[in-house]
Amino acid sequence: MASNNYIYVMKDLSKSYPGGREIVKNVTLAFLPGAKIGVLGVNGAGKSTVMKIMAGLDTEFTGEAWAAEGTSVGYLSQEPDLNPDKDVFGNVLEGMQETHALLKRFEEVSNKFAEPLEDDEMNALIEEQSELQEKIDAVDGWELERTIEIAMDALRCPAGDADVTKLSGGETAACRSLSIVAPEARYVASR
Ligand SMILES: Nc1ncnc2c1ncn2[C@@H]1O[C@H](COP(=O)(O)OP(=O)(O)O)[C@@H](O)[C@H]1O
Ligand SMILES: [Mg+2]
Repeated sequence: MASNNYIYVMKDLSKSYPGGREIVKNVTLAFLPGAKIGVLGVNGAGKSTVMKIMAGLDTEFTGEAWAAEGTSVGYLSQEPDLNPDKDVFGNVLEGMQETHALLKRFEEVSNKFAEPLEDDEMNALIEEQSELQEKIDAVDGWELERTIEIAMDALRCPAGDADVTKLSGGETAACRSLSIVAPEARYVASR
């Protein structure tokens, strides 16, 4: 390849993450100054991996990758703002905290009926349970977890128990967007 005029070149570039499958395999490309290039691929295909290598942020690969001398490379990341202490499902649920809290409280209250209770405790619980029931009905919240699972599937969200610190940018975006639209998850799920 006559490389003199190219501003960027990759040659037989391959990349695997430790212990993982080969994400990028034998990529060869070259482009001239002024080129405008889009990289297309489904979530997790390896687009960001290629970009990070091009930006010089990732140097763990085989093959060649270089920019012409004197070239500077800018990289705008898809910044992840997921909670790293929770898995994918936990992050999506964060968008539905209110309904989730109602369901959890409903379960707690229901479980209390199994314990011995004074009359006034019993009455208070019955009242709280019926208030919770009304609130959950009002937001159509009974099927929350199932609805979210269906919506996750529709948006190609990674597995619910996946570690959010190991997601691709696209996978992160799917997870983040579902967390944001979580209150509307039942509409996504019904499509
Ligand atoms: N730091 C990492 N460790 C292990 N696997 C990773 C890491 N970053 C990305 N991956 C995996 O590599 C694949 C490609 O990721 P990426 O290049 O970010 O994809 P995308 O095409 O969505 O930008 C995905 O399956 C992703 O889960
Ligand atoms: Mg990406």
